[in-house]
Amino acid sequence: MMSAGRRLIRFMGVSLMLAVAALLAGCGSGGSGNSTPPVTTPQAATPMLSVSAGTYTALQSVAITDSTSGAAIYYTTNGAVPTTSSAAYSVPIPIATTTTIEALAVASGYTNSSVSSATYTINLPAAPAIAPIADIHQGFIYQIVTDRFFDGDTTNDNPSESPNLHNPNGFTNPADADWNLYWGGDLAGIQQKLSYLKSMGVAGIWISPPMNNIRVNAAASNGETSYHGYWTRDFMQIDEHFGDDTNSWTAFDALVTAAHADGIRVYVDFPANDSNPINAGENGSLYDNGILITTYSTDTGITPYYHHNPNISNYNDHYQVQYYTLEGLADLDQTNPWVDSYLKSAVEQFLAHGVDGFRFDAVLEVNWGWEYSLENAIANWSGSSSPARMPGQPFIFGEWNEGSGDALYPDSVKFSNSSGMNLLDYTLYWQLANVFGTGASFYDIDNELTLEDTGSSSIPAQAFTQPNDLVTFFDNHDNPRIMSQGADRMAVKQAISFLLTCRGVPVLYYGDEQYLFNDTNGGVVPYNRNGMTSFGSTDAVLLIQYLAALRAANPAVAYGTMTQRWINNDVYIYERQLGTNVVLVAINKNPSTDQSISGLYTDLEPGSYTDYPAQTMGGIGITVTGTAGSNNPVTNLKLPHRSVSIWVSAGIVLPSIGNITPRVANPGAAVTINGTGFGATAGTVNFTIGSTTLSATVTNWSNGQTTAFVPALTAGSATVTVTQDTVTSSAAPFTVNTSALIPVNFSVSSTPALASTDVIMLTGNVAELGNWATTWNGAIGPVTIPATGSAHKPSRYRREPRCSSSSSCCTTTNRSLRRTSSTVTPFPLPARVQRP
Ligand code: NOJ
Repeated sequence: MMSAGRRLIRFMGVSLMLAVAALLAGCGSGGSGNSTPPVTTPQAATPMLSVSAGTYTALQSVAITDSTSGAAIYYTTNGAVPTTSSAAYSVPIPIATTTTIEALAVASGYTNSSVSSATYTINLPAAPAIAPIADIHQGFIYQIVTDRFFDGDTTNDNPSESPNLHNPNGFTNPADADWNLYWGGDLAGIQQKLSYLKSMGVAGIWISPPMNNIRVNAAASNGETSYHGYWTRDFMQIDEHFGDDTNSWTAFDALVTAAHADGIRVYVDFPANDSNPINAGENGSLYDNGILITTYSTDTGITPYYHHNPNISNYNDHYQVQYYTLEGLADLDQTNPWVDSYLKSAVEQFLAHGVDGFRFDAVLEVNWGWEYSLENAIANWSGSSSPARMPGQPFIFGEWNEGSGDALYPDSVKFSNSSGMNLLDYTLYWQLANVFGTGASFYDIDNELTLEDTGSSSIPAQAFTQPNDLVTFFDNHDNPRIMSQGADRMAVKQAISFLLTCRGVPVLYYGDEQYLFNDTNGGVVPYNRNGMTSFGSTDAVLLIQYLAALRAANPAVAYGTMTQRWINNDVYIYERQLGTNVVLVAINKNPSTDQSISGLYTDLEPGSYTDYPAQTMGGIGITVTGTAGSNNPVTNLKLPHRSVSIWVSAGIVLPSIGNITPRVANPGAAVTINGTGFGATAGTVNFTIGSTTLSATVTNWSNGQTTAFVPALTAGSATVTVTQDTVTSSAAPFTVNTSALIPVNFSVSSTPALASTDVIMLTGNVAELGNWATTWNGAIGPVTIPATGSAHKPSRYRREPRCSSSSSCCTTTNRSLRRTSSTVTPFPLPARVQRP
């Protein structure tokens, strides 16, 4: 705040200038002897602040007015004296942390006003304690680019194996740093900041790929090191920049051990699509625990490790995305038996080192059929772990970077539903970035949720069967942070409020809670991979603590339905519900207009509700009337501009299944059933297909989690229930496979002539092959077909559908290739089993 002394000097300066001006005027008009009285220019009125200076326990919104007609107002919030170069006032200023506003009025024909100033001390009440959780759906994941988070071990900054790739300025002086070099963040650094993460309520961390990466600057490609971790050379080792110069697992194990002790799960980013750049850096070098297997140019064997196709040019082409090269990165052929086994062994090695799941990179661009078998390999993994894993089967999610308008969106829905691979909710992401970053309408979010969760008749894949398994986010390492897209701090907090109360498993990108951003080049890569320089308490951290406490405490947020209750462009009111647990959330993002709300209904019981985050976001209370039951009216209210209100009711807890992890597996595989109200002693878990119901063997029973072994049902779409004390949960969907899956290549030497809109599907006599279904969703496919005339067209059509090892589907049951048109042309399929 400006001192009285500074202000006095400034006023003296103004008076002196006026005196000099009067003197000059007197000189100019001198000589006539008729002296005119000096002209005094009036001063603009001092701006008025709508809120008095003082101490407050809730957010404030300060409007500034000035009584001088036509006056423009300029203000600062950083202690600087306002000038006409300061921010021009237009809408009320949200005050979330202790702030001093200084304002100046400027009007034509007036001297500038005196500066008005007020300090607002904001002491928001502390958030409730965050209860321990059993399942990641009850919490949120925090995404970390390891190199950019914290340098916990300076001895690995410039390792001898890969020297001179480090820039020491990154964390201290990013303006002078090379953003494409390593900055020094490492696994030890994450470990040293676990208490910060724990205090915020982080339930899991997703760390950038920690595997051993190329050791040189890929200058010929784009002058970039592999600080991001996506240019793997050896999937079996930990990179020397993140761990130590023997590429050992020591730092990794220490991090996992410490994270688990703090109740924080560890998810590893695993780039199974590719190794590293072609014709640059190490030219696709691939090592197996230190032993060189191949490079891209020496990959000339009869069964190549890589595809040798051009870059993907058409992301709408089923064949290209799976078999072509992603952005110049050597494209692993997962159907090569060695590669298949190598990648799965690497995944299993991470499980053996205690990880709680994976973020699979670029699952759109990996062979889809192989990914069914990858998910299944994880489901069937039963090895021991050191450090120990957190309870529950691994949670896996993959990156399918498309929006709902993209050609392969229906494939993403089908892929996720039938493979069991959860997807990052990119479709919703684009809308979140638009709405909170650039001010688009809330209808954009609402429409997208409707499409994803309930489907559309205009596309073949109807809807995600488990929307609460989608992994939601509004920022990540591949797109400009929303602050670089236009969001201010309040918009970031509104995005956080939405994310942590929306359906799905939320991922918060590191640094958003510290308002980290850099606008160079619009904040695109690498300027969205900022050095984390502050680990302090902010109003966003406090908000996150409130929302983490809510997610952990109320199963409606982790597992419930999501229903829109009231909407316009700037206001979104939605309800989360599981049984009688109800959470109603109201966001008004309008910068200046409070919104009158009438006609709002809720399943909250009649009564009065205060704002759960105690006005941390300027929320208000409401009154619900009507008779007990559903759809009760809310008394008309006025939703403050730029506010978030959350009203909560904790209801009766009956057995309810929140999710089954994984949601696709074969008999004998262990699945974790998460939910609420299971009771303290073991009840019953039943799996049903058609008229057959079998009870599962269960273990590790607690009120919100149990492990069940899939019973020996014939494969197909199943439902699962939990029964406790004669009360049975509603049925949750599950897919039973015939047995463990192996990838199999089908090769076709000739096909009927196809129109460009035709696709080929495959069907067979087991559930994995569609049980002879000939629908888009039921059959396998579309089979990938290289573009006509492509220089790289293989001599056969290929696809790697999942297939049961115990059935003979691969050799005897492939009856036909079918078009999607109603005319089905039986076609003998010369299936070739490439490997068992
Ligand atoms: C997607 C990742 O998110 C991105 O950061 C990476 O560069 C590419 N996949 C290639 O691995």
